[in-house]
Amino acid sequence: MAVGIFDSGLGGLTVLDAATQALPDVSFVYFGDHAHNPYGVRDADDIYRLTTAAVQRLFDAGCDLVILACNTASAAALRRMQEIWVPRDKRVLGVFVPMIEALTERQWGDNSPPREVAVKHVALFATPATVSSRAFQRELAFRAIGVDVEAQACGGVVDAIEDGDLILAEALVRSHVDALKRKMPEPQAAVLGCTHYPLMEDVFQVALGKDVAVYSQPKLVSASLSDYLNRHPNMLGSGKESMFLTTGDPRKVSDQATRFLRRKIEFRAA
Ligand code: DGL
Repeated sequence: MAVGIFDSGLGGLTVLDAATQALPDVSFVYFGDHAHNPYGVRDADDIYRLTTAAVQRLFDAGCDLVILACNTASAAALRRMQEIWVPRDKRVLGVFVPMIEALTERQWGDNSPPREVAVKHVALFATPATVSSRAFQRELAFRAIGVDVEAQACGGVVDAIEDGDLILAEALVRSHVDALKRKMPEPQAAVLGCTHYPLMEDVFQVALGKDVAVYSQPKLVSASLSDYLNRHPNMLGSGKESMFLTTGDPRKVSDQATRFLRRKIEFRAA
């Protein structure tokens, strides 16, 4: 009963934490590709190569279902993986769709045609690779009509969070929000399209103002995962043990993760 959760680094731990609370009986195997982080400045081929290698490791650990808790990998690699790489008895799901379903007021997994929705002006904050893929806009267009999206590539924020430099991360978030507001002065909703950003959610909310609805992935992804596992209990996989794997230095990553989640986390070498 193990589900795999993948991220390029620590960000996916925000999703893992929410998923663990929503599904206390499920074991999770977390994979952080710290040796190759950040992904947000890499090209699509590189992201595909790294993501497939990591997901294969999670399949080998007994996970039949893997969540890409990394928007950059979801944006740049997921579609290609699903088309040509994922074995028939395995599933790999991304983190965009649950957030877009929430934004467009849909039930989980509702694939009906696009329709008008209440929210018209959406700010997207994400890594440079996610923004340039336009995957968010594509997934949104499958579900909603007439929504104006302004995207802000938030260079530097992932590196600052991985380095534990939250003062720099806060300053960068404020300046990225300012830049976004120059392009879209009154967004109705803001999407935090990177799993590292929930750690900065309060900073985004204050900088954007209290009237802007901020959509953050951990709770949305874990609610959608619970619904998926209720409908597909056979995807729980054979693995029984929860564990944290990294391609980086396990001791250093464990210290960073313990600070990041404010609870003891022990990584081992992938
Ligand atoms: N947490 C990843 C995401 O959601 C960060 C990507 C990176 O490594 O730049 O996009």
